[in-house]
Amino acid sequence: MTEQQQRTALVTGAGRGIGAEIARRLAFDGFNIAAIDLDKDGLDALTAELTENGHSAVGIVADISDETAVETAVARTAEELGAPVVVVNNAGIIRDNLLFKMAVSDWDLVMNVHLRGSFLVARAAQKHMVQAKWGRIVNLSSTSALGNRGQANYSAAKAGLQGFTKTLALELGPFGVTANAIAPGFIETEMTASTAKRMGITFEDFTAQAAAAIPARRTGKPADIANAVSFFASENAGFVSGQVLYVAGGPKA
Ligand SMILES: NC(=O)c1ccc[n+]([C@@H]2O[C@H](COP(=O)([O-])OP(=O)(O)OC[C@H]3O[C@@H](n4cnc5c(N)ncnc54)[C@H](O)[C@@H]3O)[C@@H](O)[C@H]2O)c1
Repeated sequence: MTEQQQRTALVTGAGRGIGAEIARRLAFDGFNIAAIDLDKDGLDALTAELTENGHSAVGIVADISDETAVETAVARTAEELGAPVVVVNNAGIIRDNLLFKMAVSDWDLVMNVHLRGSFLVARAAQKHMVQAKWGRIVNLSSTSALGNRGQANYSAAKAGLQGFTKTLALELGPFGVTANAIAPGFIETEMTASTAKRMGITFEDFTAQAAAAIPARRTGKPADIANAVSFFASENAGFVSGQVLYVAGGPKA
């Protein structure tokens, strides 16, 4: 861990849910944490918690689909914590609807956050990784990349992130930088809670239904994803690149 103690990890969408848990886990692993989100309150709570536990952390309010905001956030991270050599592109949104009812604005919004956002953050951070001759990029895909009714926008974005990941692995591999994707199945967060609400069922019933269809017979927790991120970000994962790891309680794709 000593080598990692000087290193900084930047996690997007860290204001709650999976991103917050990834930030906690990477802090535990010895990284300084730059937490990016639109939600200031979520960031304040997370950074207070991390700081109280003796970790170095800053929260930066930024919209990851905004080029200037991303450039500024990455520069601030480098200045205040050190070069961000681990990037976790986790921020995400859903705007579900059947194709015939899907608004162009909901298509664009989902593409902008997942694809444009991950591109902007990776592009801004890669120069720090290349300079350090060491880096780790982890992109959050989803089992929805395999197709999911009502998610034409989200499934396309999450499949796109898999291609993006493989290309980053090819381009950045010679500089000691790996790029991998994690494709979670059903994880208990406010995102899945909002889906239950939209469908008019309780979160308890929604998770019970989902668990029955999962070989592990349970739904996932944010820590299940954070554990996978921890591996990809580790020193020992240096020869693992361009991979998509489904973390879904059973086989996928
Ligand atoms: N929960 C699941 O079952 C599940 C499954 C597969 C993949 N995922 C993916 O995992 C990631 C995290 O999901 P979650 O369940 O924790 O979601 P969540 O909705 O609980 O949290 C997402 C966070 O991203 C932030 N965010 C959204 N747009 C942003 C933007 N433009 N700029 C900065 N921050 C922004 C939100 O403010 C929020 O704090 C997402 O990419 C999601 O698509 C989740």
